Amino acid sequence: MSDLQPVGVVGAGWVGLVTAACFAELGHTVVARDIVQEKVDALDRGELTFHEPGLADLLSQNRERLTFTTDIADVLETAKLLFVCVDTPPTYSGDADLSRVRSVVDDLRSDGDHVLVMKSTVPAGTGETIRRDLPGLAYVSCPEFLKEGTAIKDFMNPERVVVGADAEHGEAGDLVEELYRPLGGEMVRTDVASAEMIKLASNAFLATKISFINEIANVCEEVGADVGEVALGMGLDSRIGPAFLKAGIGFGGSCFPKDVNALKMLAGNTGYHFQLLNAVIEVNELQKRRVVGKLQKHLGSLVGKRIALLGLAFKPDTDDMREASSLVLSARLQGEGAEVVAFDPVAAKGAEGLLGSVTMADSALGALDGADAVVLVTEWAEFSDLDWTEAASQMARPLLIDGRNFLDPETLHAAGFTYEGIGKSVSSSAPVA
Ligand SMILES: NC(=O)c1ccc[n+]([C@@H]2O[C@H](COP(=O)([O-])OP(=O)(O)OC[C@H]3O[C@@H](n4cnc5c(N)ncnc54)[C@H](O)[C@@H]3O)[C@@H](O)[C@H]2O)c1
Repeated sequence: MSDLQPVGVVGAGWVGLVTAACFAELGHTVVARDIVQEKVDALDRGELTFHEPGLADLLSQNRERLTFTTDIADVLETAKLLFVCVDTPPTYSGDADLSRVRSVVDDLRSDGDHVLVMKSTVPAGTGETIRRDLPGLAYVSCPEFLKEGTAIKDFMNPERVVVGADAEHGEAGDLVEELYRPLGGEMVRTDVASAEMIKLASNAFLATKISFINEIANVCEEVGADVGEVALGMGLDSRIGPAFLKAGIGFGGSCFPKDVNALKMLAGNTGYHFQLLNAVIEVNELQKRRVVGKLQKHLGSLVGKRIALLGLAFKPDTDDMREASSLVLSARLQGEGAEVVAFDPVAAKGAEGLLGSVTMADSALGALDGADAVVLVTEWAEFSDLDWTEAASQMARPLLIDGRNFLDPETLHAAGFTYEGIGKSVSSSAPVA
C-alpha cells in the first residue's frame, strides 16, 4: 500500500472514474463504489461503459491501485476521504434531484470517522442540510470543473481547486487541499455554501455567454454581419475574453442545462426571481429549433425530405447524449414530416431509442446518400476531413447547415454546396432546386 492517503470514490461515472483514475495515477490507493453491478463488472474487466479519451488507458496503467466494488463497506474500511460523485439529475420541477446524494449519506449514518467530500454539483445549502442530519460527519465541498472529452487533462491541470469547509472542519479541508496540491492551480479556500455557489454560478455564467453570442448571431443574420468576426473582435477585450463566444445551435450536456435550471429554481425557492437565467434557457431552447426554419427557407415544406444529421452527442469526444441538441432537432424535423438519417462516430449506440424513427448510418457519407440537406450538429474533427465533393455528388441537393460554424465555407462552396452557418451570410455555389 502507498504512503499516500487512500481515497474513496462513490459513484463511478464520468466524474467519479476520472477522479479515481487520476488519484491512482498520483500514487493513491483508490476504492471506487458504484451501485450498478454491470458497471463494476465491466470496470473489473478493464472496460469502460462510456467514451472518454485516455481514461481506459489511465485506469489500466494504474490497475493495481484501483478497486471497484458495489459494497460501501469496502470504501469505508479503506479510506477516510470519500469523494461523492453521484449524479444529481433534474427533477420534473427543475430542482436538482438529490436522492442519490441522500442515499450515500444514509450509508454513512452510523459513521463518525470519515470526511464527505462533495464533488457532485448540488444546490447551495445542501452541505448545511447534510451536516444538520449528520453532525458527526466532517463535510467539504470540492466542486468539479472537468469537461467531458478533456476530462483527464482538466483534472490533472486545474485552473483552480475550490475547497469549501466551515471553520469546525478546517482540518478536513486541509486534507483535501493536500491531496490536490501536486496538481497546481489556484487554491480557493472558502466556506461550504460559497463553494457550492461557485460551481453553479460558473456554469450559469458560461451558459449565459453562449446564449448571449447566439442572440448576437441571430441579429448578425438580420444586419449582414458575421458573428465569427464579431466574437473575435469582442474576445480580444480582456474584460470579455474569447472563450464561450462560439455561436451555434445551443448548449446541451449533463451539466449546463440542469445546473442553470437548478440555480434558477434555487433562487426561486428563496423568493428571488432570477430573470436573466430565464432568458438564457429560453434562448437556448429556441436556438436548437432555428435550424428547422433555415431548412424550410431553402427547401420549403420538409414533408418527405431526407435530412442528414452529422453528429448526435452534445459535443465532440464524448458519447454523452444528455440534453443533446440533436434530440430536439431530430424530434422537430420528424414533427415537420422529414425523414431523418444520422451518423455519430461514437454516440450512435447510446442514441438509439432516444431519437424516434431516425435511421442510423454506418458512416458520414452513408448518412448523406440521397439527402436533401445535411445539418452539422456535433463538431467531430473527422467531419472537417470528409470528402465534401464526393458528399455533394451523393446528395439529392448539396445543402449544408453548419450548426457549429465548424466547417470552412470556402471549401464547402468549392465542393458545390450551398452553405449556411449560424450568424453569417449564406454562401451559395449553385441555386438549390
Ligand atoms: N459529467 C461532467 O462533465 C461533470 C462535470 C462537473 C461536475 N459534474 C457533476 O458531477 C456529478 C456526477 O456527474 P457524472 O456525469 O459523473 O454522472 P454519471 O451519471 O456519469 O455518474 C454517476 C454514477 O453514480 C452512480 N451512483 C448513483 N447512486 C450511487 C450510490 N448511492 N452509490 C454509488 N454510486 C452511485 C451511478 O450508477 C453512476 O455510475 C453530477 O452532480 C454532475 O453535475 C459532472
